[in-house]
Amino acid sequence: MAKTKTAYFCQNCGTQYAKWIGQCTSCKQWNTIVEEVVQKEDKKTWKPSSSTLQKASRPLRVNEINSDKEIRLNTLDQEFNRVLGGGLVPGSLTLLGGEPGIGKSTLLLQIALKLSYKTLYVSGEESQKQIKMRADRIHPESEHCFILTETRTQNIFQQILSLEPDIIVIDSIQTLHSDYIESAAGSISQIRECTAELIKFAKESNTPVILVGHITKDGTIAGPKILEHMVDTVLQFEGDRNYVYRILRSLKNRFGSTAELGIYEMQGSGLREVNNPSEVLISKNDEDLSGTAVAATVEGMRPLLIEIQALVSTAVYGTPQRSATGFNAKRLNMLLAVLEKRAGFKLAAKDVFLNITGGISIDDPAIDLAVIAAILSSNSDISIEKGVCFAGEVGLAGEIRPVQRVDQRILEAEKLGFNTIYVSKNNKIGLKKTTIHIKLASKIEQLVAELFG
Ligand code: TYD
Ligand code: MG
Repeated sequence: MAKTKTAYFCQNCGTQYAKWIGQCTSCKQWNTIVEEVVQKEDKKTWKPSSSTLQKASRPLRVNEINSDKEIRLNTLDQEFNRVLGGGLVPGSLTLLGGEPGIGKSTLLLQIALKLSYKTLYVSGEESQKQIKMRADRIHPESEHCFILTETRTQNIFQQILSLEPDIIVIDSIQTLHSDYIESAAGSISQIRECTAELIKFAKESNTPVILVGHITKDGTIAGPKILEHMVDTVLQFEGDRNYVYRILRSLKNRFGSTAELGIYEMQGSGLREVNNPSEVLISKNDEDLSGTAVAATVEGMRPLLIEIQALVSTAVYGTPQRSATGFNAKRLNMLLAVLEKRAGFKLAAKDVFLNITGGISIDDPAIDLAVIAAILSSNSDISIEKGVCFAGEVGLAGEIRPVQRVDQRILEAEKLGFNTIYVSKNNKIGLKKTTIHIKLASKIEQLVAELFG
């Protein structure tokens, strides 16, 4: 019997070592090197097809390359199509990452059930019965979706060869194992090998494959970074499990922009596409409440109006408390310091709590102005008039700085019935005819005087 071959892999970045060491020399993490059994593939390995392997490629002039308009498979899910850049590209590998329970399986099953293409949904995590129960909740009738519960890649390929599906979904890559590697499912070498087999299959058969990838504690996709390099598209499904809204983002896309964003709402019957996110994120409260302000942000390419809530109260402990949900806490501290200097805000005596509604996290600097407005409104207990929204970044000197895509923000605010928007004086506004009142501000002091003066 051949001696088993082992190698050492960093579980964080996937670097391979010949012997164990305490710290990975490539990603500098401690204690991440683990020994894994690797059986080198022998020549007889079964591969989906080897006919195209021998074809040697020769260099072509760019303008000689046949560039038929690339066809994309329409997934019938507008948000998913948008994030992919128009649909699934044949032969592409898409990786969908996200925290457990966020709805990855639900999203992909839902897409698989809606499709009019023959789809194979391979699950290594749930039984066929469990998937059927879920399918009944989401979309009871579907003739084109096949469910397979299998984890051995060789068996999966065998089924694929006989079924010949148009689209394949694998839930999840961490549960797969290949015979050519002896280490356990989910280990670095297994993930790498299974992904390589799937890529080879996808490219040869021109079938799009979507993989689900688990996420580690610190939010990166479990398994080596190499996985992200290998696939064509990396999508991330995120949101707060206590809220219903989910955001689908693209972190890498070889066939489209990574600036696109998809928004879903988790319901009892699956995920609902949210086509008009601003309308659901703003509360339709008729009473005037102090401490809330609406920000006109742009997430990716999409304008989005969201509500910012602040609560300012007298600090009871020596160190005032600061807490921010959905907003960078360091940025909040900076804005508070600016407020102390420019608006006479007593930083040391106040607790400040900030919340972005809907459980969405925003890092667009243009929400600074709304954050400041909400804090001052809560502090003075004077509510901001209905119909007012903000789009501006705040600098350290208390100046209001221009933001990108200001026209798009103004149009979105106008569409939603806002009558006034505050923007920076230095923003070049290209819009000619607007019914919304655009107020130009250059300094925090000016804003304070106008709103709470
Ligand atoms: P799931 O897709 O299993 O998450 P993941 O694959 O990312 O781990 O999603 C599970 C959650 O979604 C679960 O907590 C229940 C909820 N859910 C609904 O609210 N409505 C539904 O129709 C379905 C199918 C799930
Ligand atoms: Mg799942």
